[in-house]
Amino acid sequence: MIGIFDSGLGGLTVLRALVARFPDSEFIYLGDHANVPYGNRPSDEVVELTRRSVEALYQRGAKLVLLGCNTATAVAARRLQQNWLPHAGWAGHNVLGIVAPTVEAATQTPWAVTTPQYPQKYITDILAVFGTTRTVTSGVYPEEISKRCPRMRVFQQVAANLAGAIEDEAPDVELDALVAEAVAGLRLQTGGQEPHRVILGCTHFPLVEHLFAKHLAPSVRILSQPDVVADSLEHYLERHPHFADCEGASKLQLLTTGDAEEISARARVFWPDVPAFSHTST
Ligand code: DGL
Repeated sequence: MIGIFDSGLGGLTVLRALVARFPDSEFIYLGDHANVPYGNRPSDEVVELTRRSVEALYQRGAKLVLLGCNTATAVAARRLQQNWLPHAGWAGHNVLGIVAPTVEAATQTPWAVTTPQYPQKYITDILAVFGTTRTVTSGVYPEEISKRCPRMRVFQQVAANLAGAIEDEAPDVELDALVAEAVAGLRLQTGGQEPHRVILGCTHFPLVEHLFAKHLAPSVRILSQPDVVADSLEHYLERHPHFADCEGASKLQLLTTGDAEEISARARVFWPDVPAFSHTST
């Protein structure tokens, strides 16, 4: 059983791609709606909330947990992998993030390769990353991209309140204004130049990808993080097949630390046949 974690509903964009890719696998999803959004919280708090949720998923039978959240990945993944998991008494368990596969796709370079190769070292494209405050201040995307593509011009733009507004089912006009503001902020940084490619570096943002597409030039390619993560997990499971084992009866279980009925209703807005959520505490 594979666990997917997000602060709220955003990770469902990843889960949905995984369910389509691995129709016979078992997934358990946890949305920490009691604490969403994470993006404006201090780093230590994000690490602790993420650790609690990962542990809750381990306790419910997941051996592998994928952080379907850029904020949690950017701030907590490495700390959990290196400082917590080796001493936490969860031998045989693992936690993965979603920044690495996204950087691999953006740079067309395997994660293990950390020096510029040909032709990546000559790429001068403009790449834009939209994310939460915490993801952007972590600097993880520009840092990892510039190791592999040193001439790529990477601009980060915070869309601070967008994930929260998506969670709160804000009206389209409000979401549109937040996306327009983020795109305007990006153009201010680039001096009006349009990026060649864009990473929506928050798993909530694919839910408003049409608005990003509307405000960016038609030539801009938006990288699909859920698909990229599904590709990467497929390769990971080929190398670590024991994490793909099916053990239980139910194929898809959805948990929330919030109000299950309310969250189920909201989730159905963008995933009509998604199963109902159950309440849990972490
Ligand atoms: N969906 C999350 C991300 O990918 C977090 C949004 C939030 O909780 O602020 O960053």
